Amino acid sequence: MDQALRDLLQRMPKAELHIHIEGSLEPELIFALAERNQVKLDYPSVEALRRAYAFTDLQSFLDIYYAGASVLLKEQDFYDMTWAYLQKARQDNVRHAEIFFDPQTHTDRGVPFEIAINGIHRALQDARAQWGMSGGLIMCFLRHLSEEDAFKTLEQAMPHLDKIIGVGLDSSERGHPPEKFARVFARCGELGLHRVAHAGEEGPPEYIRNALDILKVERIDHGVRCLEDPALTERLAREGMPLTVCPLSNIKLRVFDRNADHNLRALLDAGLAATVNSDDPAYFGGYMNDNFIAMFEALPLERRHAWQLARNSFVAAFLDEDKKKAFVDEVDACFA
Ligand code: ADE
Ligand code: ZN
Repeated sequence: MDQALRDLLQRMPKAELHIHIEGSLEPELIFALAERNQVKLDYPSVEALRRAYAFTDLQSFLDIYYAGASVLLKEQDFYDMTWAYLQKARQDNVRHAEIFFDPQTHTDRGVPFEIAINGIHRALQDARAQWGMSGGLIMCFLRHLSEEDAFKTLEQAMPHLDKIIGVGLDSSERGHPPEKFARVFARCGELGLHRVAHAGEEGPPEYIRNALDILKVERIDHGVRCLEDPALTERLAREGMPLTVCPLSNIKLRVFDRNADHNLRALLDAGLAATVNSDDPAYFGGYMNDNFIAMFEALPLERRHAWQLARNSFVAAFLDEDKKKAFVDEVDACFA
């Protein structure tokens, strides 16, 4: 890739729409928080923990990811984690970040819902006040738990709905299809919350279809397996349904073998509204721009694709039309 394209990828304004904040916890911060909170870890050192990041599939990652989150106890811990991510995002010229969090990962350990949400929200407020970075919080339900548990989580969220823009669905995909959460997503829709779901990461194209038809989602998180189903691909393109693609995640979790095997270029060629995102950057080897650069180095992607991806990220964001247009105009100006 030439230096001019690399600079452009760095410099272009972009939105991040698929980042699990617990997946931004770097090993160094995990150890610092473990010490601060007197939490015992199963790994003797930062290096030993990092060595364990050799994943074979989604579940092998999730086991370590939930263990890493065990050091988060106080509101300040959630703030520090989020602030560290936002600083990285700012360096990558992320102008708008929609952040996932997994409340059940914390409430199931006895950490109150409000401790988690207040720490994360305060960091987002500070980023807005200090840098003008905009953002929002998307609460994810863990799909390996029951719909009843999801309803309990929604109950806990009720006093905090002003801090949440939407709900998502994450964790172990296979065996936990979207329809398991039909009723809780319907309720979230009545509450005026945006809806997204992980689908077609490891799970089949049918999960993407059911996320659309049953959960009424407005974006598909990952969705890369849609290309196995031409009719579905055609539908996603026709509807302009955004896909929040996470390239380095897909490589680390063995959805594709190598960067050069990723289908990002094929998704764009199929007319899909793909975006690039980091998923769990501390675990998968990179933040936003690392994901862009990995794909542009490995695939036949050019300047026009960079423009398309940056533009798609703002069009797919949960922003009002005026703000979207202002960001899209900034993208166009950057490429002019
Ligand atoms: N939780 C954090 N990262 C995830 C991913 N890539 N898929 C499903 N659940 C997740
Ligand atoms: Zn994800």
